[in-house]
Amino acid sequence: MKYQGLTIGVPKEILTGERRVAATPETVAQFVKGGAKVLVEAGAGVGAYFSDDDYRAAGAEVLADVREVYAGADLILKVKEPQFHEGLQVHETQLLRQGQVLITFLHPASPGNHQMVKALAERGVISLTLDSIPRISRAQSMDALTSMSTVAGYKAVLMAANRIPKFLPLMGTAVGMLQPAQVLVIGTGVAGLQAIATAKRLGAVVYAADIRPDAREQAKSLGARLVELGIPEDLAVGEGGYAKHLTPEWLDKEREALRDVVAGSDIVITSALVPGKEAPILITKAMVEAMKPGSCIVDISIDQGGNCELTQGGAVKEHKGVIIDGTKNIPGTMPTSSTAMFSKNMLNFVDNLVADGKVNLNMDDEIIRATLVTRDGRIVHEGTLESMRARGEI
Ligand code: NAI
Repeated sequence: MKYQGLTIGVPKEILTGERRVAATPETVAQFVKGGAKVLVEAGAGVGAYFSDDDYRAAGAEVLADVREVYAGADLILKVKEPQFHEGLQVHETQLLRQGQVLITFLHPASPGNHQMVKALAERGVISLTLDSIPRISRAQSMDALTSMSTVAGYKAVLMAANRIPKFLPLMGTAVGMLQPAQVLVIGTGVAGLQAIATAKRLGAVVYAADIRPDAREQAKSLGARLVELGIPEDLAVGEGGYAKHLTPEWLDKEREALRDVVAGSDIVITSALVPGKEAPILITKAMVEAMKPGSCIVDISIDQGGNCELTQGGAVKEHKGVIIDGTKNIPGTMPTSSTAMFSKNMLNFVDNLVADGKVNLNMDDEIIRATLVTRDGRIVHEGTLESMRARGEI
């Protein structure tokens, strides 16, 4: 059996407000069916509405002491990167040991996580990060970042709809027609396309802007009206079809092209991002001030700094009557759907990683190569090394 001899550990997430969990009773049952022993910390699934009994029924052993989960497992599955554990007064990296495998979102290139990644390397932990899964077709079923962006794009529109003081759809009433709200989505990748689909379902008039022709085409097919940005394709699209970071001059031109449609929108959802870079500022303070009071911006790109100059990470602020929502971890607010997707992505990732009950770090596999962060006491993740070098940390 595929997982025979392997013990998998699932700790409870400890980040404040984090309600997701890395394995559901359904995926635990799959691991157990494959021969794995699964150790789940008591209460790990409570935030996503899975009880300890649900996990027991799926074949897991539920342990009250998370130290026992870490001590007994070969492979630890988590949602968020290791943090300081207030209850135990120890960092989660300290619970991991030499040769143990950790799979989670590590966001290892992010400067705030460098210390944690170094600690993983020093302890000899084999860590793999789900945020570096390449966007290739074989990896689609493992792509947890795409799953989470799907949740974020959908929920961002609902959050904004809930804040604005008017209907989204055209409303025919006894006292006449009420005009629909205007929604603008900037950056129509995974999150943006989901935002467009959601805003359309709610009946808004939807505009979309992206610098990549493919993304624009997809936005159009969902019924969005396109904002012409006038960025030449060779400046906008780079290797592998990903967006390129624009020069300050072209970003100026883009902001100019967006100015009027931003001012006329009741809701602006921003999710423009170039992988591995800081999010470009596409909405300035002056552009916010030109918006109608009561309108709302949800800045989904906040983890990369945000697309609006005024967004504050993790906060909802008002500026001259315009609400600017910088909520972080939007998928954490929909733990059932996000956990359902994340846990399946994790199951598929582990399925690709394990052979004959052992973790097989096959470096010929593009997915494993791209996601491996630490092994044999070293940091091997290119983006992380680049970021550490740029800061003179190594
Ligand atoms: P993606 O890479 O699929 O899409 C980004 C899009 O932005 C691409 O289509 C790209 O062409 C476009 N873009 C790049 N530069 C642009 C520019 N100057 N103007 C207009 N468009 C531009 O990324 P995905 O998965 O949709 O994620 C988008 C953002 O959402 C990321 O910042 C991600 O971290 C964030 N996110 C936030 C969550 C939260 O809880 N706040 C949860 C999940 C994702």
